[in-house]
Amino acid sequence: MNVKDLYINYFVKKGHTQIPSAPIVPENDPSVLFNTAGMQPLIPYLMGEPHPSGKRLCDYQKCLRLTDLEEVGDTTHHTFFEMLGNWSLGDYFKKESITYSFEFLTSVLKIPVERLAVSVFAGTDRVPKDTESASIWESLGLPKERIAFLGMDDNFWAAGETGPCGSDTEIFYWRSNENVPVEFDPEDDRWVEIWNNVFMEFNRDENGNITNLPKKNVDTGMGYERIVSVIEGVNDNYNSSIWKDVIAVIEKISKLPYQGNEKSMRIIADHIRTSVFISSDPAGIKPSNTDQGYILRRLIRRAIRHAKKLNIDINSNWEEQIAKQIIAKYEDYYTEIKENKNIALTVLKEEKIKFGRTLEKGLKEFEKIAQRNENIDGTTAFHLYDTYGFPIELTIELATERKLQVDEKGFQEKMKEHQEKSRTASVGKFKGGLAGNSEIETKYHTATHLLNAALKEVIGHDTHQRGSNITEERMRFDFNCDHKLTDEEKQKTEDLVNQWIKDSLEVTKESMNKQEALEKGAEAMFIEKYPDIVNVYSIGNISKEICGGPHVKNTSELGHFKIKKEEASSAGVRRIKAVLE
Ligand code: SER
Repeated sequence: MNVKDLYINYFVKKGHTQIPSAPIVPENDPSVLFNTAGMQPLIPYLMGEPHPSGKRLCDYQKCLRLTDLEEVGDTTHHTFFEMLGNWSLGDYFKKESITYSFEFLTSVLKIPVERLAVSVFAGTDRVPKDTESASIWESLGLPKERIAFLGMDDNFWAAGETGPCGSDTEIFYWRSNENVPVEFDPEDDRWVEIWNNVFMEFNRDENGNITNLPKKNVDTGMGYERIVSVIEGVNDNYNSSIWKDVIAVIEKISKLPYQGNEKSMRIIADHIRTSVFISSDPAGIKPSNTDQGYILRRLIRRAIRHAKKLNIDINSNWEEQIAKQIIAKYEDYYTEIKENKNIALTVLKEEKIKFGRTLEKGLKEFEKIAQRNENIDGTTAFHLYDTYGFPIELTIELATERKLQVDEKGFQEKMKEHQEKSRTASVGKFKGGLAGNSEIETKYHTATHLLNAALKEVIGHDTHQRGSNITEERMRFDFNCDHKLTDEEKQKTEDLVNQWIKDSLEVTKESMNKQEALEKGAEAMFIEKYPDIVNVYSIGNISKEICGGPHVKNTSELGHFKIKKEEASSAGVRRIKAVLE
């Protein structure tokens, strides 16, 4: 059995409910492009809202950290990774949490205690020194010399500037063939962190004030790739069972050995895996020039460029062979990988074809530029982007290999100029009578508020929005509800929305202080971070929501509303897809 299954089995035996991984593109949090930690989708529950699956949860969560993107190519960094996590939402606290971690590592994974060390929180004026955790570790058999007390920078964990946070205890493993030192030195990087147990009992607000959360929670996270390489005793993650067979496929395709070609092979393996996960995510991300789509494009294009470096024939189905090896590994764990594998393969192939057309010429052009042996100015970098589809990061990477620098600021300025020009052009088109995308999207925004209000009438006033997504074709709306909607409930909801459209209700906007808005009963998304002054949109007297807009002026503009689909989204959350006809 692999570590992922052992982990889930262990925590389920300890009374935890396994929850599915949330999508890698967060549905309710526009402040981040991707989920970066296992706890991120659980923030509302750490803040106090009851979780439909109970107080003890465990999972493996899809995560993606862009901060590590440039580092990929060495032995330990990845963009995508899985995080094993277990949570107590106001249930157990330090003693059980530490005991479970210790037991799992030493009894289930059979890691000798002699190779372990921990750090605990040294304390500040506000949060006392965590002697309790230290005593628990000692009682389990960890010698005092292996317990280090560290400060805010090391042993206090927060999801971001604001939100749930708390002191933590981190577990380290001696990853070296040399003898294990008696004393734990956190500065010695042969001690690698394998698990983080956060005792989330505080909330930090915009002003940095720390207050107690309604309940004391535990949030733990263990990086899957790291623990697997520890167990398997490899010093290069890409030699572990997670990657070995993927690297073997790349060796076969390129007819080159891993040794001597590690960097490119690691980049290809990592970036194709991440691209498979992004493109099979329910958010339906496609390569583009903005947000998640841009990251996806960058990853695929960088993988292609490294494939070319290995002399792989770009026009062959190399990317498909690698992606299929990856898909086979994950499809039993993630239904979206199984269901959307063809989408992922198509995304890779289409982007390859697109970039393949210009890559060769672009590389030749780059060679010419590099011959000048001068740093690359913004105009040239923009030319490589605009004409040959070279993401700026790719140009920087190519330049760095030649020990040249790129004027990134100059590139950004060119980019801005270009965007402004195209914006003016599209405004011109709009004025000329072509309907802009935003018109239908604006209608869907307003319809979303009507649907939210209708569901409250039909299902109950505890029903709230959990997420929403709008395209030109449809609206998607997630809400908490413990059952599949009956045909009657769906009909009633649809009828109510259409009634309000018929009633020609006026849509009005007021700006007010956030507190005032909440006191006036405005609906707010639980975990959204709102500024101090917010816009509140009211529709007749049936809906009042904090929202950035834009909205139509009158509901009569919306046309006919129709529910197309109602399905489960995640535990206790349903999803409606609807259209305006
Ligand atoms: N949130 C903590 C982390 O990401 C523990 O899960 O390290």
